[in-house]
Amino acid sequence: MPRPTLLQTRLLPPAVEARAARDYAVRRPEGPDRTLDSAALLAAAQGCDGILCAAGDALDAATIAQLPGSVRVIATFSVGTDHIDLEAARSRGIAVTNTPDVLSVATAEIAMLLILMCARRAGEAERLLRAREWTGWAPTQLMGVTLEGKRLGILGMGRIGQELARMARGMGMVVHYRNRTRLAPQEEGGAIFHGDDEAFLAACDVLSMHIPGGAATKGWLNAARIAALPRGAIVVNTGRGTTVDDEALCEALHSGHLRAAGLDVFTGEPNIFEGYYAAPNVTLLPHLGSATIETRDAMGFRCLENLDAVLVHGTQPPHRVA
Ligand code: DGY
Repeated sequence: MPRPTLLQTRLLPPAVEARAARDYAVRRPEGPDRTLDSAALLAAAQGCDGILCAAGDALDAATIAQLPGSVRVIATFSVGTDHIDLEAARSRGIAVTNTPDVLSVATAEIAMLLILMCARRAGEAERLLRAREWTGWAPTQLMGVTLEGKRLGILGMGRIGQELARMARGMGMVVHYRNRTRLAPQEEGGAIFHGDDEAFLAACDVLSMHIPGGAATKGWLNAARIAALPRGAIVVNTGRGTTVDDEALCEALHSGHLRAAGLDVFTGEPNIFEGYYAAPNVTLLPHLGSATIETRDAMGFRCLENLDAVLVHGTQPPHRVA
């Protein structure tokens, strides 16, 4: 039996690449490791049975409509699927899979890292030292806020939100959450559910955002919702950059309504809204959420599990989203 042909759009961890090369005829576009635009993707996909893609690859409706008939599955190396038009894939009968669960802890860790950096002004402090401008310990220097006893509002209480809640409880924070549906008591772990934005936002000393990208959530954190946060609140986003109105957030950071923001995701990555560079109270990370060796290996193997199901065993992939 000939091995199925797989288009692998990005460089992947060595163990994942080795396993892919064992069972598939792997094709990778030449040149530097970067997201593929529609033309590059279509050229590389000719003759392929499956595509192993990642966030940022252009799998919009027009591209999916032009994929060769041989493509039966798209496995994305991400939990987010906002770069793939799921409806277009459905209408062509192409299965789409993602990598849930395995990145929840790593992403929650990055959310907690940003919360700590914002609360304790760690970015500003590090920049002070690197600028060789520290003149020594001082009683009023770089005072932040203590997290113990503060209210953490989690927007989107999925797997990542629940991991963050667990970590925050360990630090003595009081967890509130806003979610489409209320969790079962054993999943809630004492967190306080809010059925409307207003009450939820008013309860956020720290707001951590974990909602997916896409049209429905575009600009969710707008000027009106920012105004509903308590003065001095901290905002952290490890979901998708599109869920934040960048201008409104910058304005609130500048005016002092917000104490600080920590951002791991951006609209138009790798470009970043210009205003953030000039704001000392913003901590910026380059989309590190799932970037641990353990997690990236697990994401790769999860992709292969899904590809194997469709292309080798002819069964339902375990993590099918379309
Ligand atoms: C995800 O898995 O969705 C991460 O944000 C990487 O894209």
